Amino acid sequence: MKEQLIEIKKNILDALNDVKDLAFLEKLEKKYLGRKGEFTQALRKLAQLSGEAKKEVGSLANEIKKDIEKKFVETRNNLEGKTDKKGFIDVTLPGEKIERGHLHPITLVQRELEDIFKKMGFMFLDGPELESDYFCFEALNIPYHHPARDMQDTFYIDHKNEKGEFDLVMRTHTSPVQVRAMLKYGAPLRCIAPGRVYRCEAIDACHEHTFDQMEGLMIDKNISLDNLIAVMKELINGIFGRKIETRVRPGYFPFVEPGIELDIKCTICGGTGCPSCKHSGWLELLPAGMVHPNVLKYGGVDPNVYSGFAFGLGFTRLVMMRYGIGDIRFFNSGDLRFLEQF
Ligand code: PHE
Repeated sequence: MKEQLIEIKKNILDALNDVKDLAFLEKLEKKYLGRKGEFTQALRKLAQLSGEAKKEVGSLANEIKKDIEKKFVETRNNLEGKTDKKGFIDVTLPGEKIERGHLHPITLVQRELEDIFKKMGFMFLDGPELESDYFCFEALNIPYHHPARDMQDTFYIDHKNEKGEFDLVMRTHTSPVQVRAMLKYGAPLRCIAPGRVYRCEAIDACHEHTFDQMEGLMIDKNISLDNLIAVMKELINGIFGRKIETRVRPGYFPFVEPGIELDIKCTICGGTGCPSCKHSGWLELLPAGMVHPNVLKYGGVDPNVYSGFAFGLGFTRLVMMRYGIGDIRFFNSGDLRFLEQF
């Protein structure tokens, strides 16, 4: 009987070595281990043995059964591709793609600008987006009843500041950081302050209620318009990586005197005229000027000792020019088809 069991084991293991598919494996399982299978039948004969022989053959049969079952499981796993027993990994299979987030185009350009200004010794500042009327207008030489307040369409908030003195507004520009910076750091001072601003605008391809600006401020002894224009050119050439034609026009802003508008040749049409430049060939990019003495005083800086320039870069517009984006509404749309291009 022992020989018979060993013979069956050999047959089964040989047969399993040749198995090529699951259907055949199942057939074999039935043939040997099924109710009427050869091995099962052989085991039944055990009952006829007695005493020592029964014990001996019984334990051999158990061992053989274990070996056979193990081989069946192994063969099945191999056929089903579960080869973890040997720890095999097919490195040629394509990997699972993991989606990664990335920086928004505004942030990308902001970082480049920060690099350019860092080299010129400017520090980076932040200011509150919910700003007091005082810093947004009053301290920028725009008193409460002055018609210049109408230059910016403002979202007023239904609350006053902590001390109850001033209305709160969603800041309409980054210029409030000018006075905050002077009060905190005094003169001399070089800083930029990028960030979001809000205006109650009718929205179209060129206008949004939420957009980005970057304020710049430089205060020292003997600062002039020449310094301003030199820094502006450094900025524009740095960001576009080539020389861009510019022009300077007079501009009015209550917090600078004199005030200028620095325009660049439209990078979308090259100056021939298109919807992005309102068919003028030029883009208003950099309103700027020499900080008004009243503003210096609000910032605690003596206008008889110090002078300075300030600019308010149309940051969103710069990004549009840089990447050739024709519609401002894309930036806050959350549309991945747009965002994934950067
Ligand atoms: N804050 C002004 C605006 O948003 C721009 C500006 C900034 C003009 C600094 C001059 C100097 O319109």
